[in-house]
Amino acid sequence: MAVILPPEATADWWRSAAIYQVYVRSFADGDGDGTGDLAGVRSKLGYLAELGVEALWFTPWYLSPLADGGYDVADYRTIDPAFGSLAEAEKLIAEALGLGIRTIVDIVPNHVSDQHAWFRAALAAEPGSPERELFHFRPGRGEHGELPPNDWPSQFAGTTWTRVPDGEWYLHLFAPEQPDLNWAHPAVRQEHEDVLRFWFERGVAGVRIDSAALLAKAPGLPDFVEGQDPHPYIDLDELHDIYRSWRTIADEYDGIFVGEVWLPDSERFARYLRPDELHTAFNFNFLSCPWDATLLRTSIEETLAEHAPVGAPATWVLCNHDVTRTVTRYGREATGFDFAAKAFGTPTDLALGTRRARAAALLSLALPGAVYLYQGEELGLPEAEIPLQRIQDPMHFRSGGSDPGRDGCRVPLPWSAEAPHYGFGSVRPPWLPQPEDWEAYAADRQEGDPSSMLSLYRTALGLRRTEPGFGDGPLRWLPAPDGALAFAREDGLMCVVNLAAQSAELPGHTGFLLVSGPLDEDGRLPQDTAVWLRA
Ligand code: GLC
Repeated sequence: MAVILPPEATADWWRSAAIYQVYVRSFADGDGDGTGDLAGVRSKLGYLAELGVEALWFTPWYLSPLADGGYDVADYRTIDPAFGSLAEAEKLIAEALGLGIRTIVDIVPNHVSDQHAWFRAALAAEPGSPERELFHFRPGRGEHGELPPNDWPSQFAGTTWTRVPDGEWYLHLFAPEQPDLNWAHPAVRQEHEDVLRFWFERGVAGVRIDSAALLAKAPGLPDFVEGQDPHPYIDLDELHDIYRSWRTIADEYDGIFVGEVWLPDSERFARYLRPDELHTAFNFNFLSCPWDATLLRTSIEETLAEHAPVGAPATWVLCNHDVTRTVTRYGREATGFDFAAKAFGTPTDLALGTRRARAAALLSLALPGAVYLYQGEELGLPEAEIPLQRIQDPMHFRSGGSDPGRDGCRVPLPWSAEAPHYGFGSVRPPWLPQPEDWEAYAADRQEGDPSSMLSLYRTALGLRRTEPGFGDGPLRWLPAPDGALAFAREDGLMCVVNLAAQSAELPGHTGFLLVSGPLDEDGRLPQDTAVWLRA
């Protein structure tokens, strides 16, 4: 199939791209078994092209027991049969490229599944064997080795150690089904370099790196001491050497990386983005920022300032498969990091959240750099309440039930209002229940409605592609009333967002490109509304 990439497609596409995250299991179900699959994605490529996204990031689609939604990989060279086959993935990559859409795959280097051949061999082997050296096996503490080797807390609550029948313990920063690899072992490095080549050879344009700052562990796995620097397993200096060697592989294929790097220290964060390391990393600071003009402006300024010295473009993310969906989050009264966290029964005003999410869409799409969109965000989906007995996320169980987990943002998409299961799949009910009142969110309901979230995203993404002033490039702040943000991009583009209760006067302009909601009768910008203007 001929590849028709747009004329502006250059090696630098990733500096400005709008990238759509596909959580395969919940995107579209081609074979009707209740689980999304590659056939489903292929059937929706037209929709994605029309939406105007330039790349797709697929969360892990490899063979996996799905103990953590696929972030427990049993074999990187096999597509999970629930999703399809390798041949089908290759077809999908080529078909998407034919529509000008690149593919990014997700690599999870910190750990593998406990069903991975390496871990099974390690369990079958003896303490001290070479098979166990690929992981972190240790004797326990205490008189009989009955206590875990150290005190590290799990990212999923609980301990990071599980004991095997011969008495040794193995380390898992996440669930017990996700044993951590030993990155000091050359075979671990070699295998991941081969996996990168495997996927670049199949035409992918980029790789997302899961938990990118956690791979290296301090020698001896010392206990964690509050305030300790360096931390025993977050952001160790050795990581940069790993990513430098990955970069040489990506460069052979013109491939790019996006790292999942959650680090509060912006200087440390930027080190991953040096010119010979990762191309980009997710900007979680912006995602976790409450809907407040001063805090948002600070977050944007800090983001741009931390990226500038290393010459890397920023990324803007409002949502992903790990956090509360945007409209629900913005409909809540909450501040600080908890803002992005999951919670049971937090009161939410969805109309308010939707208005703000529309304004936030225009804000993030106008900022310099690349932007990530999570499936369903373009439909304005809220976080779903999952009945307790249907929850699947290990985060819920490992918190002892206090955390609802992440299933509420992973519910299968509604495609058509009238079809069974909203057109997600035709036969068996979806793997997670869809709320009963989702007709209005269905893509086919929104398609012809110029006031829908889908129409807003389509128009905005279209303008973002055709207006050269958007994407990577400079940003200049403009004077704005209290509680509003205003900035100019190149080519006379301006974006104004009003978060204040009183409506805001618009700056002088020659025309409107797009508004997230109706203006006041006197042409002022109401609260929680954003506008794109031409100077
Ligand atoms: C990342 C993923 C998350 C997963 C975790 C462990 O944070 O985004 O979904 O549970 O890594 O792999």
